[in-house]
Amino acid sequence: MTQQEMMNYRADFPLLRESKVAYLDNAATSQRPDCVLDAQRKFYETHNANPLRGLYQLGMDATEDYAAARETVRRFLNAKSDSEIIFTRNATESLNLVAYSYGLHRIGPEDEIVVSIAEHHSNMLPWRMVARQTGATLRYLECTPDGSLPMAELEAKITDKTALVAVAQVSNVFGRTNPMDTIIDLAHKHGAVVVMDAAQSAPHMPIDVQALGVDFVAFSGHKLMGPMGIGVLYGKEELLEEMPPFLSGGEMIEYVTRDKVTYAPLPHKFEAGTVNAAGAVGLAAAIDYLTAIGWDKLHAQEVALTDFALQGLRAMPYVHVIGAEKAEEHCGILTFTVDGVHPHDISAILDAADVAIRAGHHCAQPLMQHLGTPSTARASLFFYNTEEEVQRFLDAVASLRRQMGYGE
Ligand code: ALA
Repeated sequence: MTQQEMMNYRADFPLLRESKVAYLDNAATSQRPDCVLDAQRKFYETHNANPLRGLYQLGMDATEDYAAARETVRRFLNAKSDSEIIFTRNATESLNLVAYSYGLHRIGPEDEIVVSIAEHHSNMLPWRMVARQTGATLRYLECTPDGSLPMAELEAKITDKTALVAVAQVSNVFGRTNPMDTIIDLAHKHGAVVVMDAAQSAPHMPIDVQALGVDFVAFSGHKLMGPMGIGVLYGKEELLEEMPPFLSGGEMIEYVTRDKVTYAPLPHKFEAGTVNAAGAVGLAAAIDYLTAIGWDKLHAQEVALTDFALQGLRAMPYVHVIGAEKAEEHCGILTFTVDGVHPHDISAILDAADVAIRAGHHCAQPLMQHLGTPSTARASLFFYNTEEEVQRFLDAVASLRRQMGYGE
């Protein structure tokens, strides 16, 4: 893999073209290529009207753009039908939609909800709310220190009492991919549904919802180079059909009288109010961009960079990387601690070297408690990063302890 290939991708991103920052916080949000920004701008400049409302040409153009974006997402996930694709604001809203519209109505006091202790707060707190309000019991899947979920733990926690299992396909702290096939098979064998948080996986690997047989999938547009403020919920049609709306108001109805309301068919039943059509158009452009690069290229570049970074970090005895041994099992995410240096100081010192990483609890405080550390530093790489940026990151990490007054 040559530097030349990597530079080609950077040229597609205005911020990366203009900025000297080595942006290594891609798990928090990615950068956006020109084609995404152009697609949004084009929507507003040429087709802007309120979709699904205006019966004039511009309104119909806007409606068509929005529908085409939904079809792009359907293809991306290989969903059976466009009715199974709901646009939301982000993965958090998608997960809350399932918690409020499925969880509160289909889960009862005898049931158990299983979540992993490694979940992002977004895929944990909604289920704690459901457990509190329905009287169901919440059970945690305890991961090992390197982030894996052992089979014995899955079999012990996912039982006939389980009504719902909520797990991230890829942890935002370990970067490890959970065994979704096994989890889904086990859950279905016991009659439970599975909610998969794909916020960290959707930008890094193909997801085939039909092959997986998963019941619900949530992800955000902004982590896969789409705009902020647009997210996706996939749900099996038969489950979505049975669920009441999450939010009420405009556009999600079929007919309203003084005392009665019937709801719009899927997917509109779950999309109350004016939709984020430009966001959906931008997300579709991001998916097209990503698909045109191809998963193989994207993966090869990401693994090569992660391996380079991982080897460099491992060569420093005072740096401790958590998670799997192999770069392939990190999804570009390298979470680490440095002896004697607080993660906030790591981030500040790296920032002074124009390297942007995240420090803190990564919205996964129960996991931090489970690991016995209040916070960590996290570098997260994407295919458009370069070896030069990774080297700058490694040089800055190598200087940390010296800058903090240690001898090395
Ligand atoms: N969920 C994002 C992260 O892990 C914000 O950083």
